[in-house]
Amino acid sequence: MTPSARIAAAIALVADVDATPRRPADATANDFFRGRRYIGSGDRRAVAERAWGVLRQRLRLTWHLEQVGLPARPRQLVMAHLLLVDEWTPDRVDQAFPGGRFNPPPLDPGERRAVEALAGRKLASSDMPEAIRLNLPDWALEPFRARFGADLAEEALAMDASAPLDLRANLLRGTREEAAAALAAEGINTTMTPWSPWGLRISDRRPILASKAFLEGLVEVQDEGSQLIALLTGAKPGMRVADYCAGAAGKTLAVAATMANKGRIVACDVSNTRLEGAVKRLRRAGVDNAERHLLEQGDRWVKRRAGQFDRVLVDAPCTGTGTWRRNPDARLRTTPRDVMELAAKQQDILDTTAGLVAKGGRLVYATCSVLPEENVAQVEGFLARHPEYETVPFAQAWADVSDAPPPEVEGPFMQLSPHRHGTDGFFTAVLQRRA
Ligand SMILES: C[S@@+](CC[C@H](N)C(=O)[O-])C[C@H]1O[C@@H](n2cnc3c(N)ncnc32)[C@H](O)[C@@H]1O
Repeated sequence: MTPSARIAAAIALVADVDATPRRPADATANDFFRGRRYIGSGDRRAVAERAWGVLRQRLRLTWHLEQVGLPARPRQLVMAHLLLVDEWTPDRVDQAFPGGRFNPPPLDPGERRAVEALAGRKLASSDMPEAIRLNLPDWALEPFRARFGADLAEEALAMDASAPLDLRANLLRGTREEAAAALAAEGINTTMTPWSPWGLRISDRRPILASKAFLEGLVEVQDEGSQLIALLTGAKPGMRVADYCAGAAGKTLAVAATMANKGRIVACDVSNTRLEGAVKRLRRAGVDNAERHLLEQGDRWVKRRAGQFDRVLVDAPCTGTGTWRRNPDARLRTTPRDVMELAAKQQDILDTTAGLVAKGGRLVYATCSVLPEENVAQVEGFLARHPEYETVPFAQAWADVSDAPPPEVEGPFMQLSPHRHGTDGFFTAVLQRRA
């Protein structure tokens, strides 16, 4: 593909994403490339990178386009991206829009004037409203401020950068060192993540899913923060554990590894499709003490298992505001209404799962959100409704599972963030049912 054809394809991809606003952009991108198999892998990467760059900076690019009187449509957004992110000159942009069958149509006089006016401007400028300068939707500014305080700008900036790729060594198949060596033998270099005893960070972005180490179950893809949630669950061999919102078993796998295949872990979810996705992963990882349970309306499963679990992990459905560096389109799809609906759902799930935990057992509540409403407020509400529970402060919960120094956090919960910890934004509360 020529550079211009790549630009045309990026414009088309952003247009497809816009046409399905409630759908995650990566799902739309998969369909986009599936329908254009003639696009080779290098071109695909370049097209996706450009489109992702636009989605990531959309709020700021839109503001700039408004200043020069252009609509923020995919074509103009890509133009603004070339100018403000890649710092192209107006002439270079002009040449990249030559018209013709596979290229974007030439700039019209209004666009040419706007391109001249935008050149040399700073992507994040001091005359922008604060939320846009920080690349946050309006509604998120105050909750983010409540969460990050004086670190707001640095954390917002860290949410702008793209995320590293972390792997978890599967201790059921070998040690972290053995996994790293197997990856290195395939030319994939990793470093150890700072806190997770199983974490490996890929230094150079390499496709991992086709590697032998992955296919043989030596490693799984998992952000270090997610690994720490599994660690903090504190499951041990022989325990009875429920991973109540297991999805495709990302954390079930990590928790099962800490149990060394002894005891029982049940992966529950309301989505059969997600639970089905767990089957292959559990097999690949060599987990054989896990069962799956599809939660259905009027299900008596929870009632029948009252008080039976030593550990219940609630990796709750949430806004995912902590993963915006990974899913840049999500910051534009998420609305205050989503926050409200998800908070109600989280409350409901917490109240349901409270009964599953045995006396002296632990309920671990986690989200990949940074919004206080889904996190601290949710736990405070729960403790007020359930006096039979108390918080296990993070320092103690960590000491129960690791001799290594903990990540630095304030307060009784494990709150991780991209700037401070290099992970996605996560929240974890460890709650103990009084004996
Ligand atoms: C954050 S995701 C879980 C991710 C998963 N634990 C992992 O580590 O890969 C939240 C999951 O909660 C499930 N869920 C939504 N509502 C639920 C409910 N009422 N009860 C149980 N699970 C629910 C969703 O289907 C989704 O798979």
